[in-house]
Amino acid sequence: MQIKKINLLLLVIFLVMHCNVAYCVRITVLGSGYVGLITGACFAEFGHEVICADTDVAKITVLQNNHMPIYEPGLKELVIRNVQQKRLSFTNDIDQAIAYAEGIFIAVGTPMDNAGCADLTALSNAFAMIIPHLTSYKLICVKSTVPIGTGQALLEILKSKGIDSHYYDVVSNPEFLREGTAISDFMNPDRIIIGTASEMAQEWMRLIYEPLLEKRIPCIFTTIESSETIKYASNAFLATKLSFINEIANLCDQTGADIFDVSKGMGLDSRIGQAFLKPGPGFGGSCFPKDCSALSQMGNKFGVALNVVQAALKTNEEQKYKPLQKLRVLMKHESLTDKTIAVLGLAFKGNTDDVRYSPAIVTIENLKNEGAQVKAYDPVASENMKKIVPDIIYSHSLYEAVSGADAVIIMTEWDEFKYIDLGLLAELVKQKIVVDARNLLDPRELKKFGFSYSLIGRP
Ligand code: UDX
Repeated sequence: MQIKKINLLLLVIFLVMHCNVAYCVRITVLGSGYVGLITGACFAEFGHEVICADTDVAKITVLQNNHMPIYEPGLKELVIRNVQQKRLSFTNDIDQAIAYAEGIFIAVGTPMDNAGCADLTALSNAFAMIIPHLTSYKLICVKSTVPIGTGQALLEILKSKGIDSHYYDVVSNPEFLREGTAISDFMNPDRIIIGTASEMAQEWMRLIYEPLLEKRIPCIFTTIESSETIKYASNAFLATKLSFINEIANLCDQTGADIFDVSKGMGLDSRIGQAFLKPGPGFGGSCFPKDCSALSQMGNKFGVALNVVQAALKTNEEQKYKPLQKLRVLMKHESLTDKTIAVLGLAFKGNTDDVRYSPAIVTIENLKNEGAQVKAYDPVASENMKKIVPDIIYSHSLYEAVSGADAVIIMTEWDEFKYIDLGLLAELVKQKIVVDARNLLDPRELKKFGFSYSLIGRP
């Protein structure tokens, strides 16, 4: 039966790859968050028939009404187009969605727990709901970021339950989506990573990702463990690169060197590359902090000292206090009590509404603790920040936020902050003090308008 199935599948693949025959796979994505929603919508755009399922009733209701529960450029248009063409739908009925699917992608959150490890509760719950449906073949694909060994452990569970191995395959298929560019990252990835020992599963994945394979996107077939490791090691390396350039920027602050030129000079070395060499207030987001922490814990579990990853995390935590340190110097270590400080940017990065592990949280909490009045502005992330820090002033524009401010701190690289009218800013603020934690502004212009300023690694 298995041989027949593979032959049939191979025939389908041949027809799809060589005769331009379209085969749409019935796909269910479990978890409709930042990863699951983009994954489901893009698979539908490939031509597959996709159900995005989530236990969160409110989230699914929002989606069923053609609204987006997250801010992601281009997502609304992509979702509405595929819903209208009946390739994409949303449901809370997880069982029905699993029964429908040939391929199930688990894209639930695996947040950091109190011990710094990945919390696999949602993954376990999703997997448990799949098991009763394994009375015919289903491809079970883990897209969530999971500790090395998780995929193998899921296979062991199925074996221990005596489920016929013809009825399932488990695949690791990590995502490398950046918030703010997630759709283009999905549609034009640097690589596709597929971890499985099963030939059948490999063929299914070829069918599902055919539009990308047709574009010659590199695809690596490897083991489940290697696939899981590629995900963590990639994020940890990028985080390490960020902590490294932040430390070099801090050195530039003391030596008078300009990190702009240092980054450029470093990045022209093809072994280093220009990306991820912009210093800032530290990395945030739902991935780097948790993935570095989880990887570090895996090192402890397997008795391997991951010193570099741990150092990157330590540096990152310290970096989050840099904007405050710079502010205190500019304000001549005066008390911040009753001072008005404008914080421009709340999201952990530009082009997203996500405030998870945002450095702005550290800045705002410390300003409040020192008795300052905080006026915060972000183009899209204010509502999310209000859930964490409700008791500050949320302004509706950057110029409203800076009016009457004793100092301005730029925390997020939103384009609108790059083009601030410094002449108008000089008129609106009470004191001309600017901390630019993203190096968006030109020091020469700040000097021209009489500002006392501090950037990150720039004289
Ligand atoms: C990251 C990974 O890039 C992505 O591959 C993975 O799938 C999820 O985690 P994301 O967290 O969305 O994506 O954002 P990213 O663009 O990687 O930025 C991460 C953090 O680094 C942000 O806080 C950003 O502000 C910061 N950053 C990034 C810098 O400080 N300087 C840089 O040059 C680049």
